Amino acid sequence: MIEGCNISRDFGFPRERVLHHLNFKIRDGEFISISGRSGSGKSTLLYIMSSLDHPSEGQLFLDGKDLKLLSSKDVHHLRNTSIGFIFQFHYLLPELTVFENVLLPARNLGIINSKKKEAIELLTYLGVQSLVDRYPNELSGGEQQRVAIARALIMRPKYLFADEPTGNLDTMNANIVMNMLKEINYKQKTTICLVTHDPDYSAFAGREIYLINGHISERKKDLLF
Ligand SMILES: Nc1ncnc2c1ncn2[C@@H]1O[C@H](COP(=O)(O)OP(=O)(O)OP(=O)(O)O)[C@@H](O)[C@H]1O
Ligand SMILES: [Mg+2]
Repeated sequence: MIEGCNISRDFGFPRERVLHHLNFKIRDGEFISISGRSGSGKSTLLYIMSSLDHPSEGQLFLDGKDLKLLSSKDVHHLRNTSIGFIFQFHYLLPELTVFENVLLPARNLGIINSKKKEAIELLTYLGVQSLVDRYPNELSGGEQQRVAIARALIMRPKYLFADEPTGNLDTMNANIVMNMLKEINYKQKTTICLVTHDPDYSAFAGREIYLINGHISERKKDLLF
């Protein structure tokens, strides 16, 4: 469960508030979307939910643990084992092959050998197994994004966070990625938080957090609990 209590986030001098006292609960196995206009705070909220950033005020609990109170070692362990990220730009490492990129989180944990079979299975599931030995610059945008999804899933994370994962893709590849997210949520019960400003993709989620200028929209608030 991800629980936000009275979360605010300020930036800059003079301080400007971009998230205002947000309260929410995301239950295990849910697929939620975070939508709203550009600058409404979607990415900021996703980074706080996923341990990449901290709120200026309020608390974020992941499985009942206040992320701010964890040691940096524990946060790193949590990120490596329980959290997958997919970004708008895939951030594959150009000097590593597809196979090596997918196995990177396992390499960080020193368990690369035990994950090789699973890496192939994931790439097969995502339809890019024939590309294992290629480098990212030899792939299309859609293929790169599928490899990034495989990398995000290799540790079978409990939580998957995706920030506009289709923003860089054509409609066909975007639909493939979205259908895969839906299937991963359904089959593996992975909790998914998806940032999108596309209402069609927002509709893939079971629930929507709609932000207006850093506030959760009143008209959607009743859906949050
Ligand atoms: N590190 C930062 N320093 C200062 N201001 C920031 C920082 N990060 C975000 N902001 C500001 O916070 C507000 C919300 O930004 P955020 O990136 O969360 O928006 P968004 O909803 O994801 O927008 P988009 O749809 O364009 O990606 C914006 O006004 C942005 O300029
Ligand atoms: Mg954003």
